[in-house]
This record gives sequence, C-alpha cells and structure tokens, in this order.
Amino acid sequence: MTTYRKAGPADVPTIFKLISHYAAERVMLARTLEELYSSVREFTVAVEKSRVVACGSLKFYDGRVAEIRSLSVEQGHTSRGLGRGLVKRLLREAKSLGLETVFALTTVPEFFRTCGFRETAREKFPAKIQRDCLSCELYPACPEKTVAIRVGKPKPRAYARPLIEEVPALRSA
Ligand SMILES: CC(C)(COP(=O)(O)OP(=O)(O)OC[C@H]1O[C@@H](n2cnc3c(N)ncnc32)[C@H](O)[C@@H]1OP(=O)(O)O)[C@@H](O)C(=O)NCCC(=O)NCCS
Repeated sequence: MTTYRKAGPADVPTIFKLISHYAAERVMLARTLEELYSSVREFTVAVEKSRVVACGSLKFYDGRVAEIRSLSVEQGHTSRGLGRGLVKRLLREAKSLGLETVFALTTVPEFFRTCGFRETAREKFPAKIQRDCLSCELYPACPEKTVAIRVGKPKPRAYARPLIEEVPALRSA
C-alpha cells in the first residue's frame, strides 16, 4: 500500500538520493543537501513499507503561482501511479492554499498531460526564467517543455494584466 505525507528533515537523505539519480541522467536539476534541508517543507513523499519511494515539491513564486519541482519516483516503482498520486496531492495543496496556477518544466510533458496540464510558453513565468533559467547552461536551447494547470480562480489584479492566461483548469477529483 502507498501512503502520502508531507516530508520532514529525516527524509532528506532519501530525497537527495532520488533526485541525484535523475540529475545524473540530466532529466532534472540537482539539489544540494543544504538546499533540501531548507526547502523540505515544500516536499510531499510517497511511502511504501515504511520507505520513501517517491517525492515531489511545490515551490511558491508569489500568492498566485507555484512550480512542481523535483518529481522523482524510484526506479522499480514507476508506472504504478505514484507520480500521478504525488501531482494530485501537490495540486490539492496548491488549491487549498489559494493559488491560481501550477507549472512545471519537464522532459516528460506527456506524463503531465495525463495529470491535466497543458503545454504553454515559458515566458508566462518570468520569475522562473530569472531565478533558474538565465544561469543555466542549457538556456535558451533548453529541452524541457513548460506545462501548466489552473487550480483556482484568477484573483483581481490592481495594475498589471494577468500574467498567466489560457492554462487549463484543475478538474475536481
Ligand atoms: C515521470 C515520472 C514522475 C512518472 O511517474 P510514474 O509513477 O512512473 O507515472 P504514473 O504511473 O503515475 O503514470 C501516470 C500516467 O502518465 C504516463 N506516463 C508516465 N511516465 C511517462 C513518460 N515518461 N512518458 C509518457 N507518459 C508517461 C503513464 O503511462 C500514465 O498514463 P495512463 O494513466 O494513461 O496510463 C517518473 O517516471 C519519474 O520519476 N521519472 C524520472 C524523473 C522525471 O522525469 N521527473 C519529472 C521531471 S519534472
């Protein structure tokens, strides 16, 4: 049986191992132990037989937008619904916190499509480009696609035009 829960500091070494494995294959960004300890509250983990076998995190950019990062399912546990189980919980968390949109940069847009996301332009998330992409050696010829989903109603904005438009809505589960 698989259970899901928010991660704690004791999970960090396992999360580090999961992410490092896929970072070595260049399918996701590496994270240091220090980064993981300081952001561990952003993570949700999947547990089987008391062991963490998958993880994913929700990084907040502002009161409206968050990113799913570091989504990793241990080899040998893939294709059993754990990835989708994590995404579903991270989206629920985003919705319950009043966010509007969740996005991800990914080499597997097909997987995210099965979770309700749609491909969109990375330029809709300038804070992401600023924070991570500009310092990345692969940018702008990056192989990752940007996918996004709307999880809540757009909030009124005082000045600017909506930053994000035309992203699909989260279907209530
Ligand atoms: C991508 C990943 C998170 C998917 O998790 P998973 O537990 O294997 O996927 P699930 O079993 O939840 O699959 C859900 C659906 O997505 C599809 N899917 C899963 N991986 C896929 C892939 N690589 N390509 C296309 N479709 C995929 C499944 O077929 C399934 O579709 P279905 O419901 O129509 O049968 C996992 O394989 C992984 O950790 N990969 C390496 C790291 C990575 O690429 N992470 C994403 C970076 S943002």
